[in-house]
Amino acid sequence: MAFEYVNRQWVLNESGRPWKLAELAARESRPFYLYDLADARMRAQAFVKGGARIHYAMKANSHPRLLTMLAAEGLGVDVVSLGEMHKALQCGFAADKIIFSGVGKGREELSLACGREIFQINVESFEELKMLEGIARGLGKVARLALRVNIHVIAPTHKNIQTATEESKFGLDMRQLPQVLDWLKGKASLNLTGLAVHVGSQIMETTVFAEVGRKMGEIFKMVTEQGFTIKHLDLGGGLGVDYKTPGHEDLNRLPEYFKAVLSHHGTVAQVVLEPGRFVVARMGVLCAQVVHVKQGINRQFAILNAGMNCLMRPALYQAYHRIEPLIQTADDDQKQTYSIVGPLCETTDTFAHGREISRLQAGDWVGIFDTGAYGAVMANTYNEMPLPAQWSILDGKLEVQ
Ligand code: LLP
Repeated sequence: MAFEYVNRQWVLNESGRPWKLAELAARESRPFYLYDLADARMRAQAFVKGGARIHYAMKANSHPRLLTMLAAEGLGVDVVSLGEMHKALQCGFAADKIIFSGVGKGREELSLACGREIFQINVESFEELKMLEGIARGLGKVARLALRVNIHVIAPTHKNIQTATEESKFGLDMRQLPQVLDWLKGKASLNLTGLAVHVGSQIMETTVFAEVGRKMGEIFKMVTEQGFTIKHLDLGGGLGVDYKTPGHEDLNRLPEYFKAVLSHHGTVAQVVLEPGRFVVARMGVLCAQVVHVKQGINRQFAILNAGMNCLMRPALYQAYHRIEPLIQTADDDQKQTYSIVGPLCETTDTFAHGREISRLQAGDWVGIFDTGAYGAVMANTYNEMPLPAQWSILDGKLEVQ
């Protein structure tokens, strides 16, 4: 287990050494993320063993040390902006290990992707496809692309992270496919090698992925019958983690997940996956200090020095994260109920209401767990707050950024 509660405090056991989180926190004055990169490595390896081609979705966490490690492990990467593309190249991902996704890729993005001859450009609209064709022709290149289709699957997850409802901005509606395929025929600068889909994030039921695989199988058949040779079936990311339960139990869901996504493997095409959260959520803890414990009339507030500027997930998706004091003093056994909030001038700047945890005092440090995914990458400077620091530990070495 990455982070363990031992002798009334949170500890990270790494390379035979116990790092006490409270001791690390004593060296810092800002809120900071701490990453156990070995945990992400273990999860990445578990994914690679599954038998699909893995492209880590960088949007979940783009810390350079993490990316360098994942590139060294042989993973590919999925990027969604020029910034991410440059970072991928800097951190050691070869161009043929890069997938470029995203609904708003314009001339500059497509030119770079095309010029670098990346593994796959995931095209999300007819308009983008036409732009890509002009660019590839102009550069004298043949662009390898996948069409990302919207297959109308309402994923069982928070509505703000569903991406394949009928009204979704993402992907090419599957009803537009025949027209697009007709247009694609004979376009020498475009090579349609893949089909892609991503129906949402934080999906706990593996049956959803089986349904996606089945629907994509049908589309694959239709596209192949039109004379296209589809080598890759990119089923996106989306596998969720159980934020209420610590530990590695969720790894036991991988075989079932792979069974669902690989049901077409070998018979039709190579399956490509773009996991983000599952690889990195568990490796991160956001450490923050209690500024005040404020006594209200009906509730007690623990006001932290980190708010939605450091971690947006609770404000945006009403997301649950475990919150615990990094160290518990002997008389702290009695639990108290708190609204745990940030310092920002915004009501949604709230991590939890009615949360029962050990008694807190001003100056105490708390850990907000499982925040390695979509934490630091979504941080911002609202209210002129500083960005959280990022600390990482790998193979016994601590780095502070
Ligand atoms: N591929 C594509 C095309 C995506 O849009 C995403 C995530 C992924 C892969 C990776 O999905 P994952 O395995 O991480 O679920 N900020 C939200 C999550 C947004 C996900 C966006 N797309 C959150 O904090 O829950």
